[in-house]
Amino acid sequence: PRPILGLGTWKSPPNKVKEAVKVAIDAGYRHIDCAYVYQNENEVGEAIQEKIQEKVVKREDLFIVSKLWCTFFERKLVKEACRKTLKDLKLDYLDVYLIHWPQGFQAGKDLFPKDDKGNNLISKETFLDAWEVMEELVDEGLVKALGVSNFNHFQIEKILNKPGLKYKPVTNQVECHPYLTQEKLIQYCHSKGITVTAYSPLGSPDRPWAKPEDPSLLEDPKIKEIAARHKKSPAQVLIRFHIQRNVVVIPKSVTPERILENFQVFDFKLSDEEMATLLSFNRNWRICVLVDQANLPDYPYNADY
Ligand SMILES: NC(=O)c1ccc[n+]([C@@H]2O[C@H](COP(=O)([O-])OP(=O)(O)OC[C@H]3O[C@@H](n4cnc5c(N)ncnc54)[C@H](OP(=O)(O)O)[C@@H]3O)[C@@H](O)[C@H]2O)c1
Repeated sequence: PRPILGLGTWKSPPNKVKEAVKVAIDAGYRHIDCAYVYQNENEVGEAIQEKIQEKVVKREDLFIVSKLWCTFFERKLVKEACRKTLKDLKLDYLDVYLIHWPQGFQAGKDLFPKDDKGNNLISKETFLDAWEVMEELVDEGLVKALGVSNFNHFQIEKILNKPGLKYKPVTNQVECHPYLTQEKLIQYCHSKGITVTAYSPLGSPDRPWAKPEDPSLLEDPKIKEIAARHKKSPAQVLIRFHIQRNVVVIPKSVTPERILENFQVFDFKLSDEEMATLLSFNRNWRICVLVDQANLPDYPYNADY
């Protein structure tokens, strides 16, 4: 069950993420989900390094994922971006390198570059340009496999149909939980031999833009009821839900007890009926919408799936 359950690290503060990763590796996690834009890869890397030095794990037992940020889509920037991530993580290769979002932003220090009027500034080079250089990273041994994140099925199709494609994406990492069940996208990806990785599986209660009136998965009475039936927590049900759909899941926590709790999901099974009930909660509610980018050419959510 190793890579099917990983530790998320978005919003994990630098002063807490090191301990979180160490606790996770001790608990049996082997998959860590990282990104340049999370601005904590250096501390994640310290934790990984310590656990390798303590001989708790070997590098080849770990499954480390990171992501190319949108300001690095220009061909001349992709390799440097990957090398920076590797340096911070203190690794000589990544297991998977993802394109974080399909829309490319203007290069520069600013992670979300905008003009004076607040319009997003985009890059001339697209994810297809970035992909070709990422393929070279595989050939050079810096990356074992490539993937995408937040891509709709048309955008995946664009990669699969790219003339001269050398490496297919191995995964599409997307938001997924009982309020956004992603049936069509999962079906599409699985039919192409692409795994799906579910992010924000608990509904991302620490997202910076949370509003009190937003729906809450962890407090949903019907999810609590299923959890009680199995003597499990709502978080454990929300994680188990993906495992039974063959979807990889990456809950984030910096709280040691929760990191342990979230891994105790291999000793129970949701019934077919419970799975169907959880799927019936779908309301196409998206946490990571990036509303102000909806007019960008490669914005992913104008398509049905
Ligand atoms: N590719 C992308 O664009 C993208 C977008 C979003 C997320 N992601 C990845 O997916 C990971 C997970 O998503 P997420 O961070 O948005 O949200 P999440 O995993 O759904 O939720 C994290 C929140 O839940 C809390 N929590 C964790 N375990 C819990 C438990 N057992 N009981 C109660 N609360 C619990 C955490 O608190 P504490 O930490 O305080 O314990 C934190 O506030 C991210 O960290 C990131 O690695 C990727």
